[in-house]
Amino acid sequence: MKVHYSVFGFLDLVAVLVSGASLNISGEAVTTRFWDCCKPSCGWKAKAPFSRPVLSCGIDDKPIDIDAGTGCNGGSAYQCSNQQPWKVNDTFSYGFAGVFIKPELTAGKIEDAWCCACYQLDFTSDPLKGKTMIVQASNTAYDVTSNNRFSLAIPGGNTTSHDACAKQYGVDQKVFGQENSGIRSENDCDNLPDNLKEACKWRFEWYKDQQYPSVNFKRVPCPTELTSKTQCTRNDEAELKGLVPSQAPVVSPSILLATLGVTMTCLFLV
Ligand SMILES: *[C@@H]1O[C@H](CO)[C@@H](O)[C@H](O)[C@H]1NC(C)=O
Ligand SMILES: *[C@@H]1O[C@H](CO)[C@@H](O)[C@H](O)[C@H]1NC(C)=O
Ligand SMILES: *[C@@H]1O[C@H](CO)[C@@H](O)[C@H](O)[C@H]1NC(C)=O
Repeated sequence: MKVHYSVFGFLDLVAVLVSGASLNISGEAVTTRFWDCCKPSCGWKAKAPFSRPVLSCGIDDKPIDIDAGTGCNGGSAYQCSNQQPWKVNDTFSYGFAGVFIKPELTAGKIEDAWCCACYQLDFTSDPLKGKTMIVQASNTAYDVTSNNRFSLAIPGGNTTSHDACAKQYGVDQKVFGQENSGIRSENDCDNLPDNLKEACKWRFEWYKDQQYPSVNFKRVPCPTELTSKTQCTRNDEAELKGLVPSQAPVVSPSILLATLGVTMTCLFLV
């Protein structure tokens, strides 16, 4: 009985240490922009321990089946239009991002460390210094892995060779601007679909049309302002909020024995 208890205690401790690798994460990062209309990478099953994957949408902008393929590869799932940035006041905005965090900060984990986690980004370069964003990781930014990176989802902010935006919104792909830079001026935002115009203008107003501004980042509990749009909450959020003590839970030997008994019974039944 004693032996089993200490083995389980040890496993609990290992679980806490492993999950801790996704909790206290901070550092410096570069930010980029994207809006390729593809199904977000965190929109697939089993990317991380979470309530459900990030919502993806069909061409009607309504949530679509979790297993629907990406519109960037012949499928019917796209990024929902409301996963876009918005200003709360002159120094604070919410948004969504494609994330890459270097493995040395995540104990080697990749998407399971960041999918659906939220990060506070404090801008450190002028003219954005003093401004803050809280973003939820809805996507992954694997194409540059030399830096920690947050690629902010900004409509018209940076398109790719895929024509997914054209398919999703029934417009010419050129409306979303040029590959690698997006549209050129705030006036061009008026050519975007109505539900994307305001967030497109956010780039030129609140974000001051910056390229590659730097940030200090740290993981923070996800606000419902963001999770209500993705429907995705990580299983380690409760621990992060301190609602559940991040110590190994105390398992009483009798509960353990009962569990063991049930397990053995099941084994015999099989
Ligand atoms: C979190 O990480 C930072 C930076 O590595 C460190 O200074 C801080 O003590 C850590 N906090 C906890 C609670 O582990
Ligand atoms: C646009 O996206 C590409 C691909 O991720 C990236 O290399 C580039 O730096 C981005 N441009 C901007 C201005 O963020
Ligand atoms: C901006 O909004 C944030 C988040 O609600 C708040 O913490 C901050 O105090 C506000 N700043 C100003 C200048 O109103």
